[in-house]
Amino acid sequence: MSQQPLWSPDAPNTVIHGDNLPVLEKLPSNSFQLIYIDPPFNTGRTMTRQTVRTVRTEGASRVGFKGHTYETIKGTLSSYDDAFADYWGFLEPRLEEAWRLLTEEGTLYLHLDYREVHYAKVLLDALFGRDCFLNEIIWAYDYGARTNKRWPPKHDTILVYVKNPDNYRFNNAEVDREPYMAPGLVTPEKVARGKLPTDVWWHTIVGPTSREKTGYPTQKPLGVIRRIVQASSAEGDWVLDFFAGSGTLGAAAAETGRRYLLIDQNPEALKTMQKRFATTTTPPQFLRPNGQLALS
Ligand SMILES: C[S@@+](CC[C@H](N)C(=O)[O-])C[C@H]1O[C@@H](n2cnc3c(N)ncnc32)[C@H](O)[C@@H]1O
Repeated sequence: MSQQPLWSPDAPNTVIHGDNLPVLEKLPSNSFQLIYIDPPFNTGRTMTRQTVRTVRTEGASRVGFKGHTYETIKGTLSSYDDAFADYWGFLEPRLEEAWRLLTEEGTLYLHLDYREVHYAKVLLDALFGRDCFLNEIIWAYDYGARTNKRWPPKHDTILVYVKNPDNYRFNNAEVDREPYMAPGLVTPEKVARGKLPTDVWWHTIVGPTSREKTGYPTQKPLGVIRRIVQASSAEGDWVLDFFAGSGTLGAAAAETGRRYLLIDQNPEALKTMQKRFATTTTPPQFLRPNGQLALS
């Protein structure tokens, strides 16, 4: 008897409860126009011990996508930072899947902070190809405690890579515009229209009293994720977040007419998403990795 696929492009919006890697491996290639992920830092330590990784047969200096010597770069970075080696051991197979799952015109947004972003940039250059790097978005906020011993870090970084640098979707006309910093220097028409965002996005965090707050501790602001969805996908496209948390990518997709597949292994994340999507016009189905319903 042939098994039903876990997901296909004619599926409804879907949330899957489970470890993302085995789920990703079952999904068909070239399926998602946009992948946004916000992985947790340091999960690598425990996850790599749980996950049996296939040893590559190509040897230590495997030539990566588009001819880059990926293993060499990874080896150099890993040799002086054990935490990084663990972290990357966890993330690498998932990013390889992300590359496979993107459509030809697709875009990956990888949301990180200052501790890991520089390693990730070097490695994604090798994994996707340096010419596929599109942007480094700085999401700047101003909230929480600040140290007096150094410049208080108050930003995250979102690395943006396209699968094909000659043919990708980028529609900044659909993106929300921002007020000019010096409105006196431009015409009143321009002031009224606002300016297109640059690669530095000032946006408040999800505040304790904010209406969009779900209670999930690592929830990211809808305003930041909505902008990503608007620029790099179109209505009807499939978008994927396999570290979904409170489901912010799904919320942005639901608002803007995109379809979404979300994956998270934390039962709290599932409960949060169930509540969050209950009132949307096309609520998702919740599945286990074996295809059975995850929530009644
Ligand atoms: C930083 S949070 C994502 C927050 C999300 N962007 C939001 O706005 O709510 C990272 C999520 O990854 C999930 N996660 C970590 N390892 C995972 C794995 N191997 N498979 C699936 N989900 C995982 C965690 O449960 C957590 O919810």
